[in-house]
Amino acid sequence: MKMIIAIVRPEKCQAVKDALKAKGVNGMTITHVVGRGTQAGIKFTNRIGDFLVDEIEKIKIEVVIEDDSNEECVIKTITDTANTGKPGDGRIIVVPVEKFLQIRS
Ligand SMILES: Nc1ncnc2c1ncn2[C@@H]1O[C@H](COP(=O)(O)OP(=O)(O)OP(=O)(O)O)[C@@H](O)[C@H]1O
Ligand SMILES: [Mg+2]
Repeated sequence: MKMIIAIVRPEKCQAVKDALKAKGVNGMTITHVVGRGTQAGIKFTNRIGDFLVDEIEKIKIEVVIEDDSNEECVIKTITDTANTGKPGDGRIIVVPVEKFLQIRS
């Protein structure tokens, strides 16, 4: 079992959810997060001076996949959907999952 953690642009979240649903991936956790990547933020310049925004809003999507053979499909689905080709498209992290229990049963 794996957990795929995708950090994507907020405006891409709905498309990623829809694309995953189309692939039969229903369960997920979504969190509104802030962060920064390789560029350590975005620098803005105006009349007053330079400003660094280093807490950029992103959406974190966590999906546990019980069948490891689905890993590449889920990664490709997210990547194809969330990619714009510009800096800030996000990251995907894959971590092993020891247990994944359903409380109801
Ligand atoms: N090393 C890291 N550790 C934890 N989270 C990270 C790391 N790098 C990026 N992130 C998370 O991913 C988000 C998006 O990062 P971003 O897409 O800017 O990555 P990047 O490596 O800078 O890629 P790009 O060069 O395409 O911008 C960040 O806001 C942060 O939440
Ligand atoms: Mg970046």
